[in-house]
Amino acid sequence: MLSSSESLATYNTLGLKQHCHSLIKLCSTHAILDFCQSFEYQSRPLLVLGGGSNIVLTDDFAGLVMKIESKGIKIIEDADYYYLSVEAGESWPALVAMTIDNGINGLENLALIPGTAGAAPIQNIGAYGVEFEQVCDWVEYYHLDDKTLNRITAHECHFSYRDSIFKQELKNKTVITRIGLKLRKQWQPTMTYGPLRDLASEQITAKQIFHRVCEIRKNKLPDPELIGNVGSFFKNPIVSNEHYHRLLKQHPGLVAYVMDECMKLAAGWLVDQAGLKGYCAGRVGVHNQQALVLVNHGDATGKDITQLASYVADKVFDMFGVKLEVEPRFIGKNGEIEFNG
Ligand code: EPU
Repeated sequence: MLSSSESLATYNTLGLKQHCHSLIKLCSTHAILDFCQSFEYQSRPLLVLGGGSNIVLTDDFAGLVMKIESKGIKIIEDADYYYLSVEAGESWPALVAMTIDNGINGLENLALIPGTAGAAPIQNIGAYGVEFEQVCDWVEYYHLDDKTLNRITAHECHFSYRDSIFKQELKNKTVITRIGLKLRKQWQPTMTYGPLRDLASEQITAKQIFHRVCEIRKNKLPDPELIGNVGSFFKNPIVSNEHYHRLLKQHPGLVAYVMDECMKLAAGWLVDQAGLKGYCAGRVGVHNQQALVLVNHGDATGKDITQLASYVADKVFDMFGVKLEVEPRFIGKNGEIEFNG
């Protein structure tokens, strides 16, 4: 169904009241492929939308929004693994809950992450010690230039921290149609993240981890149904060891994690230390429980959010000399735009 001048307020979890020129909901992979084959995206801006939980609409969007609502999950197994083929429009949190209910383990740390399954590979979603790349088998996508359907392995997705080929070489050129997950039957819990450590025991179950992760998220992160937000607004910045040690001397409480040869700083800690936790700027603000989350107190525009993000990034830079990068994608009048602070 194609509708014109649609409000996007209910299609983005920040609840920004921007509009688009037109919107189409596609409810099956077949419908996605049919539509894409005839659509000339070079002649009109296109925004592929899943759950809208990782976008900031800075303006009314002048093009077509393609809302992916395809549903279906197929599960097969062999002696060692469950293999799941999941349509892009499936809800990620519902998928995780369904697997746990059915004794299929491995997704429990990724519970309650808002969004659709098809969006998960784009930013390589991650939480509590697990990233999407660890459970991904393959990703299927339609290439809008070549007009071909492709399937690539997890390795070919070039996953890294909140990044993948879909944010690099294939940026805005694809529509993800299905994802494949591969979950080991010989389940191993991941409890490296602080608040999960006290669960450690011989008898720990995936269901227990799932419930703990749900509890932590509910306590720490605002529910987008109640208060508009996109989860973490900034990535945790990665700095050299030398830079880290310099900062640590000046700020002995600095929270950081080892990452390959570098250090990943807790951006929430940096924003908090800059005195901005709970900061309000009219209709927007920094969440009062988790400084990494920017919130819409109601009726905010994309501009309000952008200004707040710049303010926060500037304050952190002034105090620590560290440049914060935004995590969500910014969508302007004609498509994705860079956030330049
Ligand atoms: N911290 C503060 N003040 C704050 C927030 C955090 O001091 O206001 C400190 C915490 O005490 C902790 C550290 O900063 O020592 C890290 O905070 P937290 O454990 O809450 O995790 P995070 O680094 O802020 C990341 C992900 C989250 C994910 C959690 C758990 C990013 C950008 N964010 O947050 O992902 O749920 O770890 O693994 O990597 C998301 O991407 O939307 C998201 C919520």
